[in-house]
Formats: sequence, structure tokens, C-alpha cells
Amino acid sequence: MKLFFLPVIAALAGQVFAANNFYGIAGANSIGGSASYVCRTQAQWNKVATDAKTNGFKSIRLVGFDCDALHRASRAAVASGLKIMAGIYIPGSVASARTQVDTEVQVFVAAYRQFGAGVYDGLTIGNEVNDSAANIMAKVYSVRGYLRSLGISTPVSTVHTWVRIRDEPALCGADFVAANAHAFFDPNQPSGKAGDVVFQYAIPALKSRCPGKKVVITESGWPSAGNRNGAAIASWSDERNALLNLNCACTTDRSVQVYAFEIDDQVWKHNANERSFGIFGKIGLNSDIFKIC
Ligand SMILES: *[C@@H]1O[C@H](CO)[C@@H](O)[C@H](O)[C@H]1NC(C)=O
Repeated sequence: MKLFFLPVIAALAGQVFAANNFYGIAGANSIGGSASYVCRTQAQWNKVATDAKTNGFKSIRLVGFDCDALHRASRAAVASGLKIMAGIYIPGSVASARTQVDTEVQVFVAAYRQFGAGVYDGLTIGNEVNDSAANIMAKVYSVRGYLRSLGISTPVSTVHTWVRIRDEPALCGADFVAANAHAFFDPNQPSGKAGDVVFQYAIPALKSRCPGKKVVITESGWPSAGNRNGAAIASWSDERNALLNLNCACTTDRSVQVYAFEIDDQVWKHNANERSFGIFGKIGLNSDIFKIC
């Protein structure tokens, strides 16, 4: 009888299990690889969601609500059993975006009522907004108060760079820390240190400056093209190496959720580095880097 099980055990021993230690993946509302900004269709969001699910991501982060993205991505996420970190984008100052933000808060309320509270990990007001912490947080608190008045308890915050939140911790005064942390922009660190930079420098600093707050790294990635930044080299093998290091580093603090950046290359962006952070279709995940750590 025992002999009967041997081939099964041998097969299991020979198999390397892939583990995705990221929580989610962030991405744009435009399709990948396009020199102009072209909204993802519902079918294209569905493909993003099934690719995310297949590779073990649990959530998709939106940076803006243009392109009907909140409804399309929410519908796709529900169909794939994923969650959404919803982000309202503020292009200039908070004051200049007041009408747009207020309109998009209503879009969020409608999606929340349509798809349910359980779909939303959070709502962020602004991504790296170029305005004072006081102006940004006044808007965050106002939106949060409004949602609470409707009985909506979705966690609310604003996304900023980890360095700015460390230096102005008022930015983590709402419900959670939402920090972008890209090691590429530190000229002292090669791709193999991409995860170590986030988990050894950024996260400890954020935890100390934002005591008691849940930390979410809303973006971390690496470009495959463009100029180098000192020791940080932009190439396909460096992007692969950085994501591999990040995925392994995520196991060192399970209290922190990290969103890999980003779904696919956004070629319409103006800078070669910023165009080339795409992951799907470029970097092997289950088939490659998730097997290694
Ligand atoms: C940020 O805002 C200031 C003041 O309005 C402006 O001078 C500066 O150009 C802005 N920076 C960026 C990167 O948009």
C-alpha cells in the first residue's frame, strides 16, 4: 500500500510552490502600451482582474476615477473575488479640484451602494498632491465626515510619498498610512535592495511617525527602461530583480500591505522611467519570481 503513495510524494517534492506576498497591484485607467491615453473597457478591466487573481493578488488600486474606472474595475473585481483600493486623483491644488472631488465622492457613494462595503479596502483623496498637508487633510477629513454621515465606514486617507509622510506626519492623520515607496528614486540603492529599502527604511519610519496606524504601501515598483538613477539601473532584469526582492521582503512584516506598481506600461507618460513600470505581460510572476524566496 505504501508504495502506492510514493509517486504522489515524489511529484509534490518536485513542485515549487509560487507565493505572491504582495497584497495588490496598482495601475492606470488607460490601456497598457498605448502612446495616447485610452480608457480600459469593461472587458479589459475584466482581463486585468483575472490576471491579478490568477497571480495571487487580492486587490486592485485605482489612482483616479476617470474613464468610469471605479465602476468598471469594481464590477471586474467582484467577478474575480478581488477588492478595490479606490483613489480619487487631484491634478493640481486641492482648491482647484474641489468640484471634481465632490462629484467623484458621489461616484464612490453610488459604487459603494451598488457593489457593497466589502469590495472597498479604502478611499484615498489625492495621490502625491502638490499642496500643503493642511489643505490636503482638510479635504480628507471633510470627505470622511461626509461618508460617515451616510453610514459609510470605508477607511479614508490620502496617498503621498513615504518621505513626505515621514516629514509631515499630519498626512497620516486619517484612517491609515497610504505611502508610495519606490526604491528606484534613491540613487544609492540597486534593484536587489528594492524590498529592503521599503521594509528596512520606509516602513519603520512610517510606523514611528504614524503610531498605531495600519501601513499600506500603495505603490512600489521598478522601471525597465530609461536613464539610470545612480546605482538604480532601469532595465528588464533590474525590474525583475527588484520585484523579486520586494515580494520576498513582504514576508518580513505581514502587518503591511504592499501594492506592486503597476499593471502595465503607460507609454503615454512623458518620462521613459515612468512609462516602463508595467508588470503584466513583461515579468513572470507565478511562472518565475514568486517561486523564489
Ligand atoms: C506645485 O505647486 C507650486 C505652487 O502652485 C507650483 O509653483 C509648482 O510648479 C507645482 N509643482 C508641480 C510639480 O506641479
